Amino acid sequence: MVKKIYEAVQYIQARTTIQPTVGIVLGSGLGSFTSEIQAECEIPYGEIPNFPVSTVEGHQGKLIFGTLSGKKVVAMAGRFHYYEGYSVDEVVFPIRVMKFLGIKNLFVSNAAGGTHPDFHVGDLMIINDHISFFTPNPLVGKNDNDLGPRFPDMSEPYKKDLINKAKDIAQANKIDLKEGVYFGVTGPTFETRAEYKLVRILGGDAVGMSTVQEVTVANHMGIPVFAVSVITDVGIREEENTITHEEVLQAAKEAEPKLTLIFKELIRQL
Ligand code: HPA
Repeated sequence: MVKKIYEAVQYIQARTTIQPTVGIVLGSGLGSFTSEIQAECEIPYGEIPNFPVSTVEGHQGKLIFGTLSGKKVVAMAGRFHYYEGYSVDEVVFPIRVMKFLGIKNLFVSNAAGGTHPDFHVGDLMIINDHISFFTPNPLVGKNDNDLGPRFPDMSEPYKKDLINKAKDIAQANKIDLKEGVYFGVTGPTFETRAEYKLVRILGGDAVGMSTVQEVTVANHMGIPVFAVSVITDVGIREEENTITHEEVLQAAKEAEPKLTLIFKELIRQL
């Protein structure tokens, strides 16, 4: 694994001299955030040794290196989902590469279904914890001590000081920011009515098909994480209606400016 990471890192460092201190992962429908970055180098995933290639609509599939809010950043425009058929190792590979490129903080966004009764489409939810019993843990297997410990602590998977700063930024900009627990599932089906209810009973405020595995390996490697869900649909509702991928992408796009502001300002304050 480490050898594969180094091959990717070496290739990237031959293409760009940027040494990113912040890694950013953008979720479904949230890719236009990348236009905020003063990009100096873009590398399609397909060109990087050992990188999987993104297949989902709404994901561009490249690493973007540049400057954002005065910091050197690397952003993943498009991420790898377990439901696409990638192994868990492949899903988390780019996060490990970003660590070896030197990132000190990881920012993650995703689209998620709201299960908290007070959540509405278009809300932003700071993720303060997650539940992941239903997705494979990326750390199963022989532990690589060059990456992190065998039994990583997960008491603060999302850094409290970053969460507190984000809340201050939201308040100063009159952005209504929710906070809650992200419940990770494999997808690709959206949940049944009974499953959305179960997620709620089990303590999830939002449910989605990404993030947990990436955040797990970031914690394994000691990288502080800040993550936000855009609530693109609400799972628990009385009326008969369906959820579509198009609706998710549209809702994410509409909420994106709020997310952009918070990410940019928080990165400035790092
Ligand atoms: N469930 C799971 N994943 C999602 C959802 C959802 O309702 N919305 C966006 N991603």
